[in-house]
Amino acid sequence: MTEEKLLELLKDMSLTEKIYQMVQLPGGFYSGAAEDSGTSLDRKVSEEELYLMGSTLSVWGADRVNTIQKKAVESQPHHIPMLFMMDVIHGFRTVFPIPLAQGAMFDPEMVRKGTEIAAKEAAAAGIHVAFSPMLDLVRDARWGRVMESPGEDPYLNGTVGRAYVEGFQGTGAADLYKDHVAACIKHYAGYGASTAGRDYTAAELSEHSLREYYLPAYHEAVKVGVEMVMTSFNTINGVPSSGNKHLLQGILRDEWGFKGTVISDWNAVREMDIMGFAADEAEAALLAADAGVDIEMSSLTYADYLKKHVEEGRISEDAIDAAVLRILRLKNDLGLFENPYKDADSVREQQVTLTEENRAAARKAVSESLVLLKNGILPLHEGETVAMIGPYALTQELNSHWAPTGRTEDCVSVKTAAEEFPGIRFRFAEGAKMIRRNDYMDVRSEHIIEKVRECGILPGPEDLDDEALLTEAVEAARDADKVVLFIGEHVTMSGEANGRGEITLPANHLRLAKAVAAVNPNVAAVVFAGRPLDLRELSGYAKSIVYAWLPGVMGGPGILDVLTGKVNFSGRLPMSMPYSVSQLPLCYNEYRQGRPKGLDDPGIFTSCYSDIPNRPLYPFGYGLSYTEFTYGPVEAKCAVPADAALRDVAEDTVLFTASCTVKNTGAVTGTAVPELYIGDVASSLVRPLKELKGFARVDLAPGEEKTVTFEITKDMLSFTGADNRRVLEPGAFRIYIGADCETENLAEIEVER
Ligand code: GLC
Repeated sequence: MTEEKLLELLKDMSLTEKIYQMVQLPGGFYSGAAEDSGTSLDRKVSEEELYLMGSTLSVWGADRVNTIQKKAVESQPHHIPMLFMMDVIHGFRTVFPIPLAQGAMFDPEMVRKGTEIAAKEAAAAGIHVAFSPMLDLVRDARWGRVMESPGEDPYLNGTVGRAYVEGFQGTGAADLYKDHVAACIKHYAGYGASTAGRDYTAAELSEHSLREYYLPAYHEAVKVGVEMVMTSFNTINGVPSSGNKHLLQGILRDEWGFKGTVISDWNAVREMDIMGFAADEAEAALLAADAGVDIEMSSLTYADYLKKHVEEGRISEDAIDAAVLRILRLKNDLGLFENPYKDADSVREQQVTLTEENRAAARKAVSESLVLLKNGILPLHEGETVAMIGPYALTQELNSHWAPTGRTEDCVSVKTAAEEFPGIRFRFAEGAKMIRRNDYMDVRSEHIIEKVRECGILPGPEDLDDEALLTEAVEAARDADKVVLFIGEHVTMSGEANGRGEITLPANHLRLAKAVAAVNPNVAAVVFAGRPLDLRELSGYAKSIVYAWLPGVMGGPGILDVLTGKVNFSGRLPMSMPYSVSQLPLCYNEYRQGRPKGLDDPGIFTSCYSDIPNRPLYPFGYGLSYTEFTYGPVEAKCAVPADAALRDVAEDTVLFTASCTVKNTGAVTGTAVPELYIGDVASSLVRPLKELKGFARVDLAPGEEKTVTFEITKDMLSFTGADNRRVLEPGAFRIYIGADCETENLAEIEVER
């Protein structure tokens, strides 16, 4: 439909029709299962209202979607099609590794490819909008939702975010018509700074930190045309994001030029009443609409109060029209006026879902996401007898809390995948039970705490195991050449509303590791988790540690590909692996201090703890390989004429280049991931010592070397000044190129006055 026709349609709609375009309830309401939708409403919803609404969420399947869409188009006064939205966080049916693991890939092209597959599967199942990517910067592993984020660095998150948006949406509105869906970035903004790792709380952020760390990744997604933005549950300095006009209008629309649609998170508009930012739900509706929330998700304050606010002049009908026009434009970009059913086709849904090609891509993504943290006994070799021990060696539960359209039965377990490697004599033993969230809740819930106060003993998960499991595992380990443990957090232990006060491995898994290490010193551990964990105790039992995150449907094959050396490791940590929970929140790019604690500095009067190190157990950007790489000296050159007024050129102007020769000094082919960091030696605001500004993937055969060259633009040297504007200040900068954030391989450059 042309823009002119859209405007005519809008003009012809009643105020009631317009307002219902701004209302969204979960799909359960359309299939008579409203009670299982998790939305607690204070009133019934009539069928007439339901089919007036502009969109719904969490309903998928071509036939189901088409049935609802047909009824909506027929019953709508202007036959406006609905939007169908879904959490497609790390795959649809072909579930890929969790987003934190996709951050670990340091491979945006792999992220884009996997997301393109997710888009095609989702579109065929009737989805128009994916509530993804989540681009919240995260620094606190206690927060259950770190699993949804690409990690702790603004540049990495922005790079992954762009890849997600391009995978979902293609390269422009024309692509949205077929095999693609609109993307929706979330949770705007600053949700990763949620207090103490708990959901739905406050974030205390200076404007400077917000702009320097928490906003850049969302901005990168806006630059590549993301269609939708979702507001976050948290407040920023006392203002809820769904009522934050500075965030939604000032920054998002006025500064960044975002023209798309803003949707609230689930019930977040109504919760402004509960948190006391609004006196009641009527005021919550007014504050959200005035701030710029176009669609209210899973609550009815717009349906119940907006009309009266307009009629009594508290909000103009023009403001409503602006919101509704954005929604209509999105429907138009998706081609829904011409074809309300878009890609939803049950035959095609079968054809494009979980294909061998999709599975192969997921398998590659798994092998790229795994991070080798330490190594003494890997890879596994033909002819070896290997005891594969732990609940994750057997289970198909490899997806995550955020794979609602994924199915456990689609997952290939480690045990099944082992059949592809007949040259190795595998033996399997469960060894310990998986500990699910409920197990912890039972153990840690209030009545148990009362009991502890009486008897002083807190029953731990180890009470949930039976000795027979342990005994069987120890026997399987005793005379094996090697033992590989498959242990970690259950998929229910991370994701939304899954903050943890501890970040230790389940006690019964540690007990298993200790028992098998006592009879066989050649132990490797593969750790599954939706967050960084405290690996100190495990590190005492295992000579090799692989971080597998939550790998998705091809977890088994992808893990065995790297354990056997068929594929070499190339994953790098997207979040610092803490020494302990006490270090949290933790990041490599904290602001510099006046008394920095050097890595080996014994100084007492420095920024340090007296009882634990400052340093994480493993730093951001770290990851080993089966081979070794060396990094030659950094060579930096000016790329513009010496007399160029560097500060007056465009942001994307290349001012310098920095090169480094990377060499494979080991015996097997591997992929080096040279990482570019930049540090501003002196600036008008204190800045981090160094910040990631680029990386590359370089495949090298044994003995081979290649020179990587990075272009350094004005923007890469700039920062947000005291006036909240981007600025490049003259002076010296350090350019680092190395294996991780602790590299000291640097060259200095000078930006002239
Ligand atoms: C949830 C999440 C959000 C998700 C939405 C719809 O509460 O915060 O990430 O997209 O509701 O399921």
